[in-house]
Amino acid sequence: MSSLLQRSEKQRVDALNSIGIENLGVSEQFFTPAPVAELMARMLVPENPQLGSIKLLDPGAGTGILTAAVTARLGKVAPGVPVHVTAVEKESAQLPQLRVTLEDCARTHGNFTFEIKKEDFIDLGISAHGIFAEPQTNRFDLCIQNPPYSKLPASDRRSQELKKLGIHVPNIYAAFMALAHKLLKPGGAMISITPRSWYNGPYFAAFRNFLTSTGQITDIHTFESRRKVFADTKILQETIITRTVADPTPVSEIAISTSHAANDPTSVRKVAFSSVFSGNVIFVPTSNRDEQVLQWLSRATSTISDLPFTVSTGKVIDFRSREQTFSQPSPRSVPLIYPANFSRETIHHPQVNLKKPQWFEPTQAGEDKKLIPPGNYVLVKRFSSKEEFRRITAAVWQADTFTALDNKVNFFHSGGHGMNLDTAKGLCIWLNSDRIDHFFRLFSGHTQVNATDLRMLPYPSVAQLQAMARSNMEAEDAIEQVFKSLGES
Ligand SMILES: C[S@@+](CC[C@H](N)C(=O)[O-])C[C@H]1O[C@@H](n2cnc3c(N)ncnc32)[C@H](O)[C@@H]1O
Repeated sequence: MSSLLQRSEKQRVDALNSIGIENLGVSEQFFTPAPVAELMARMLVPENPQLGSIKLLDPGAGTGILTAAVTARLGKVAPGVPVHVTAVEKESAQLPQLRVTLEDCARTHGNFTFEIKKEDFIDLGISAHGIFAEPQTNRFDLCIQNPPYSKLPASDRRSQELKKLGIHVPNIYAAFMALAHKLLKPGGAMISITPRSWYNGPYFAAFRNFLTSTGQITDIHTFESRRKVFADTKILQETIITRTVADPTPVSEIAISTSHAANDPTSVRKVAFSSVFSGNVIFVPTSNRDEQVLQWLSRATSTISDLPFTVSTGKVIDFRSREQTFSQPSPRSVPLIYPANFSRETIHHPQVNLKKPQWFEPTQAGEDKKLIPPGNYVLVKRFSSKEEFRRITAAVWQADTFTALDNKVNFFHSGGHGMNLDTAKGLCIWLNSDRIDHFFRLFSGHTQVNATDLRMLPYPSVAQLQAMARSNMEAEDAIEQVFKSLGES
């Protein structure tokens, strides 16, 4: 006889076939394949769950495969424990398969009841918040979800209502996570498979704060192969599985696991909390080297807001400024710097063999808002090719005249002006270091380096940056030496 999970997998595949792969983008029915559901259920429910009865929430339940996976897991680790499932699904088309799967769960597990709510989970969660908050017994012990991934515009009515509950989210999946998290009993656990995008970046900062101030991340699972996770629905987005608990007591370690695809062997590492969650960014150190780099960098304790400089993007968009750009200098022109003017960690200007015009004529010398005044700046290329050795390439630009910067160049400055030369040189050493490059790759899957990314890096203090600049040692040794001699920033 086939297993509960195999039978629910059949319901899932039937539903996918009737929707048609070509319609999935619109209808958000990227159902979870059985091996991923099984992995999630294993992560959600520990070996010895110590629960007298279980209330399980499955928001955006689809064909019910996630509930089937949890039910199968509970059959092994908590046989006979009463289970009540609340499955929420807004699409009528999924309801027949959902019912078949939940009835199958009831037959297989025995002590199993369920309710199907054909509703929008966001609306339900918003209105249920009051109902579920009191008394706590109405809330859930467990939640398992693969929420829909579409954007939630700020103008959407649901977005406004979520804000009233303290939930600021740019995407439906984060709304599902936040609401479900609020509906957990204290100590309840939730497992979610989502895009990785919420782990960093400013758009999800409020969401990360919300989740980690009211609960904790306990486990993270990543897949080495994007293609294989949702192979039959052809999703290429980088997905991640996160287990959270509704318990704000700090955890010292987080379990990080990785597998090639869902059925492949999983390697699990326990990683210090401080190596995962730092500066309101969630890192996923999957190797010893990753963890060493994060530990090492935790000595740089300044954020950019503590420092006398910030970073912006160059203001010249060349195709919009053609009448102001020239190949030959004129009495009124100033240097125009492109990424192509970088040669390793130095800026060469003018570059005679470049097709790009090397000179810019301001509208009125010195008063053009696109220019930066004379002074010392650190320039960083915004794009690197996959083949390039480093993602971040920084160089000091010592400008004795006004300068125009192409918008494919970021620049560190002090309130729009230049900065102390030693600070600039030290900053350049820091940004070009191997560890910063490794760190950058840990939180960004992109080859693009935006000013917002640079604002999120850890930095040494000004005294440490200046000491790095004055050191006679090789860059990496200089950094090590400065941390040893000048301590933490
Ligand atoms: C990515 S699928 C996952 C389905 C199922 N949980 C699984 O893992 O296979 C998301 C499901 O959420 C449903 N859905 C989308 N928006 C919803 C909403 N606002 N409220 C409730 N369900 C929603 C979709 O119809 C779809 O079945």
